[in-house]
Amino acid sequence: MKIIVKSLILTLLIVPITLLGHGNETHDETRITLTPVVMSMDENKTEVFKEINEAYIKEVKPIFKAKCFDCHGTIESYPWYYKVPGIKQLMDWDMEESKEHLDMRKDFPFVSHESPLEDLKSLKEVIEEDDMPPIQYVLGHWDSYLTKLEKETVYEWVDGSIKILGDKK
Ligand code: HEC
Repeated sequence: MKIIVKSLILTLLIVPITLLGHGNETHDETRITLTPVVMSMDENKTEVFKEINEAYIKEVKPIFKAKCFDCHGTIESYPWYYKVPGIKQLMDWDMEESKEHLDMRKDFPFVSHESPLEDLKSLKEVIEEDDMPPIQYVLGHWDSYLTKLEKETVYEWVDGSIKILGDKK
């Protein structure tokens, strides 16, 4: 009789333990099924970035190339006054500092300290406020502020990109 009670207690103890043990296995299974999910999310992002970049290259890059790349991209030709001592240092500083904040040399997503989403937002912000190009640059390049049409093109790209980024979150 005692033995039966003992084994019953044991069974009662062991059943939950084995069940818990089983719990571990399910845990492993979840981990296995999770991996492809995470991967496909990354793939999604890459796809979204690709889509945004295609629109960027077509619509926005020509504008930025003309008005922003001297600092944020690759400068194609230096103006004559680049040789003037003092001005050269100022320009070098601008070209370095600007790329530390936002490097457009490799297209979208840009290289920066911020996320691509934050970059899009600050792009629109600086253009809305006419903060970029900086005033010292505009003084030497009278036509470097973005025209109304160019601004609208950039806004359309930024808004559209933020929307697809948000949809894929
Ligand atoms: C004469 C050089 C120069 C030109 C041209 C220029 N920038 Fe900049 N840009 C800078 C510098 C320097 C910084 C970093 C310091 C600052 O934020 O003022 C910067 C920073 C930025 C930032 C980041 C702001 C932040 O909050 O960190 C954005 C966005 C930006 N520029 C966009 C543009 C766009 C768009 C254009 C063209 C329409 C442009 N810039 C043209 C020099 C330039």
